[in-house]
Amino acid sequence: MGLACHIGSQILEASPFLASFERLCGLVRALQADGAPLRQLDLGGGMGITYAPGDRELDVEQLGAALTAAVAPLGLELVLEPGRYLVGSAGVLLTRVIGRKRSGEREFVIVDAAMNDLLRPALYGAYHPIVPVDAAAGERPTIRADVVGPVCECGDFLAQDRLIAPAEPGELLAILSAGAYGMAMASTYNTRPLAAEVMVRGGQFAVTRPRKTVDALIAEEQLPAWLAR
Ligand SMILES: Cc1ncc(COP(=O)(O)O)c(C=O)c1O
Repeated sequence: MGLACHIGSQILEASPFLASFERLCGLVRALQADGAPLRQLDLGGGMGITYAPGDRELDVEQLGAALTAAVAPLGLELVLEPGRYLVGSAGVLLTRVIGRKRSGEREFVIVDAAMNDLLRPALYGAYHPIVPVDAAAGERPTIRADVVGPVCECGDFLAQDRLIAPAEPGELLAILSAGAYGMAMASTYNTRPLAAEVMVRGGQFAVTRPRKTVDALIAEEQLPAWLAR
């Protein structure tokens, strides 16, 4: 038996966790005084990672030390659910530039990844850094552009009004911090098979999930009896 809470997500300060923990501790003591056989205290997740320039890194050492000290006198097992914190910064979405265009004052870099591959920018305006894979391209003077996918939707963007290196068609871009809420939120919208997943270690790489085929996407579809001949 235990208590669990989750106060939010992408929190970069230790203080909200400590404040919620303090409140929970009060409840734990009251329940223990009533004889409740509590064994566990689950503080949930929400430890943030750095996305945008200027984001300050969460001091997990400080948070860990404060939580450990606070939980020790309670005699409870402490559980954390640091989903994004463990994997978010480890993943990039690799995409190739397929075109450039200008519309009025706006410059567009069109890439072969889309909102179905990384939904966060379209869904809630999330910021993901975008850098050229070729370091030399990063030396070029920056342009201000929207980075958009090839899906015919006004929400199909990966960055808007962003200062980036002026990538040319054929070049690769890395969309950073895509290891959490990236593939897990991806869909096959517009009959776009899910991207391949590749694990990299030093100079080694391995395909850990091959790209799906369009045939596999539609393989499970069935005609209803009234249409079947
Ligand atoms: C109960 C619970 N635990 C953990 C998480 C993971 O949070 P995060 O990915 O921000 O670490 C969530 C996310 O909403 C959650 O609801």
